[in-house]
Amino acid sequence: MLSKKVEKALNEQVNAEFFSAYLYLSMSAWAEMQNLKGFANWLRVQYQEETTHAIKIFNYIIERGGQVELMKIEKPENNWKDIIEVFEHVYKHEQSVTSLINDLVALSIEEKDYATNNMLQWFVNEQVEEEATALEILEQLKLFDGKGAPLFMMDRELKQRVFIPIDTAEKGA
Ligand code: FEO
Repeated sequence: MLSKKVEKALNEQVNAEFFSAYLYLSMSAWAEMQNLKGFANWLRVQYQEETTHAIKIFNYIIERGGQVELMKIEKPENNWKDIIEVFEHVYKHEQSVTSLINDLVALSIEEKDYATNNMLQWFVNEQVEEEATALEILEQLKLFDGKGAPLFMMDRELKQRVFIPIDTAEKGA
């Protein structure tokens, strides 16, 4: 059984993960308009991943006999100066998600909810990876000022990314 506090916080995280999905889908559309098809692909895969993050928590709330409450998803930004600004935003956004996950972990400890704490460890690890990947792309872009032939090469490389579904069940992820 989830406490009301934990249930509310998990529902808020479902919303935050859907917002992340929405934000990356918006960035993907922007990249398509700049003819950066590889970046658009990478961001679209990111959108798909975020959806699975939301569903993972959604499933967990149900599994624990809690009540899912879907909330309104905020409108994401849809315009950036250039691709460097997009990835500065991705990196900043992932840092803010890490902070939300950390708050949830702290709450699970406060509420002595060790099952929720255990489920959240997957997200703790995932955030390390998410921040590292965003920073790696950002730093690469900065090396060539996000322009010219290297941008074209990087775009081609990012076109290779494919969506690999995660196990959204509580166990075995
Ligand atoms: Fe679901 Fe990118 O954190």
